[in-house]
Amino acid sequence: MLGDDLAGCDDPADARHRRSIRSVNAIAARVMSALAGQLGHPHGLLGKVVAVVLNRANRRDAIAAVEAASITPGETVADIGFGGGAGLGLLLGRAGSTGVVYGIDISTDMVTRARSRFHREIDSSRLRLLEGSLNDLPLDDSSLDAIITVNTIYFIADLDEAFAELARVLRPAGRAVICLGDPAAMAELPFTPYGFRLRPVAEVIAELERAGLSVNHREVPVGLVAGHLLIASHPPR
Ligand SMILES: C[S@@+](CC[C@H](N)C(=O)[O-])C[C@H]1O[C@@H](n2cnc3c(N)ncnc32)[C@H](O)[C@@H]1O
Repeated sequence: MLGDDLAGCDDPADARHRRSIRSVNAIAARVMSALAGQLGHPHGLLGKVVAVVLNRANRRDAIAAVEAASITPGETVADIGFGGGAGLGLLLGRAGSTGVVYGIDISTDMVTRARSRFHREIDSSRLRLLEGSLNDLPLDDSSLDAIITVNTIYFIADLDEAFAELARVLRPAGRAVICLGDPAAMAELPFTPYGFRLRPVAEVIAELERAGLSVNHREVPVGLVAGHLLIASHPPR
């Protein structure tokens, strides 16, 4: 643009250089925005790649969450926002042949992918996959012994509503494990400025408490960044 050339009264090569830097930045922003969108709602061809990457990058998060949920064989458990499904496999192992695992995700494509990957477990009624949201869970009151939800709450606008849902579906002795990256470390990742809600951990804990749950907070080294496990349960009566 003319303005570029006049701005520093510099030579056209400098102006061209600045323009190409701006173009590269604009492309990088579009790529990061698309990636952030996929992480919040994996879909289409790219969603298939994202699912594989999620399973690799976040496997340790899922392991830590399942461990913290203290699941015993025969329990009814759920992974909400299961993405690539690494958590579903781990939950199936813990709940055993007499347990039931629910997988709930807003992404039709992730549900379809998991239906194909886990068709044997679905046929044997050990796994039930449902399309739905953490904000409006397609589950009965007091129906779950344990819930994990890993790297999901960044995409939830109304945490009050989501945590009220966790409290509703959790049995009196149930455990809900929320796993999230440390907000300061997450803020350093190039894609989080594009729509991730990075709340202070104290704020997330306060929201869980507002839903009537007690919270045990553990810091864990998970996934790409340092992380937090919030183990929420109904207070003893
Ligand atoms: C970043 S991925 C995390 C997937 C997996 N838990 C992991 O840690 O690899 C976020 C997942 O949450 C799902 N998700 C986003 N908002 C949701 C909501 N309101 N209810 C249920 N699932 C949601 C997305 O579709 C996506 O599969």
